[in-house]
Amino acid sequence: NAAEKGGYEHFMLKEMYEQPKAITDTFSPRIKDGKIVIDELNMTDEEIKAINKIMIVACGSAYHAGVTSKYVFEGLSRIPVEVDVASEFRYRNPILEEGTLVVVISQSGETADTLAALRESKARGAKVLGIVNVVGSSIAREADNVMYTWAGPEIAVATTKAYSAQLISLYLLAMKFAYVKGEIDDTVLSDMLEDLKSLPAQVEMLLNNKQKIQRFANRYLAARDIFFIGRGIDYAISMEGSLKLKEISYIHSEAYAAGELKHGTISLVEEGTLVASVLTQKELYKKMISNMVEVRTRGAFVMAVTMEGNTEVERAADYVIYIPETNKYFTNSLAIIPLQLFGYYVSVGRGCDVDKPRNLAKSVTVE
Ligand code: AGP
Repeated sequence: NAAEKGGYEHFMLKEMYEQPKAITDTFSPRIKDGKIVIDELNMTDEEIKAINKIMIVACGSAYHAGVTSKYVFEGLSRIPVEVDVASEFRYRNPILEEGTLVVVISQSGETADTLAALRESKARGAKVLGIVNVVGSSIAREADNVMYTWAGPEIAVATTKAYSAQLISLYLLAMKFAYVKGEIDDTVLSDMLEDLKSLPAQVEMLLNNKQKIQRFANRYLAARDIFFIGRGIDYAISMEGSLKLKEISYIHSEAYAAGELKHGTISLVEEGTLVASVLTQKELYKKMISNMVEVRTRGAFVMAVTMEGNTEVERAADYVIYIPETNKYFTNSLAIIPLQLFGYYVSVGRGCDVDKPRNLAKSVTVE
């Protein structure tokens, strides 16, 4: 009912607005005197230094958070990371050796495939860390250690605040591992923590742009196909942007690694096809802009999500959303906001059941 939604039209909108708090609540208890302290990890520095592979297993948006974190873990800590969809992981006879840390990510803590992957990993002798939102859930109970995302109860089927809190937990872990391994020093760590602490206000600011995005979304209510493109960490956010849109609006959408488009998918681009491009990584701007030009030449309408100051993008885009400066590993936390709003308003505009899309359940307890 209306009271439960706190005056918002849908749980999804309310939960999007709870993201600044979810982010703060997830990082603040874990930063003490300028250092990252994750007691629930139950690992000594020696044990952290002994990690030689991280295996991340999850489904849906939690998987997308995992894909983002691969770039963060590898970039910062230089520990190799594999990310798997839980339903695939179990059946591929995964190689878990001494020194492999398995990380399972789940909002509900009840996703059957993720739980089965956890059990499979434990049976093979691996240590499993759960990143879970629901306290006391099955995954929280069965994992060796649990790092909670403090997003609070999430009702809308399309996850927003739990996903944002998952990203924060993963950044903290990656920074912690990198620091313990000596890959980043005190100066880098303290700069990163400053940027982390700025995220809630920056997310708030992006949420307040909602009317502009609503007007833009209203132009795409009848779209047949939408493509999301990005490179590197921006490819990870493209996947999440695409899922947000399709699960609640029922418009077909796909995420592509921008450089891979010309190997097939570009043949689907027609006059007016919307291509949402994400470019937050300075070293990839040029390459992204050339991919945007490729689709625009074929008639695409190009929307871009990029960092403030990258005005160069305007020559290749029809509509640009700027996000504020942050550490290059944290950009997904900002870029996702306009993409969530876009999916939300397309769904509202099409008259869909935003909070309870057809055929979907909040937690998928069948394999
Ligand atoms: C996200 O919007 C989805 N509804 C879905 O992909 C979800 O993230 C997935 O089912 C995993 O759920 P979990 O986090 O509860 O394990």
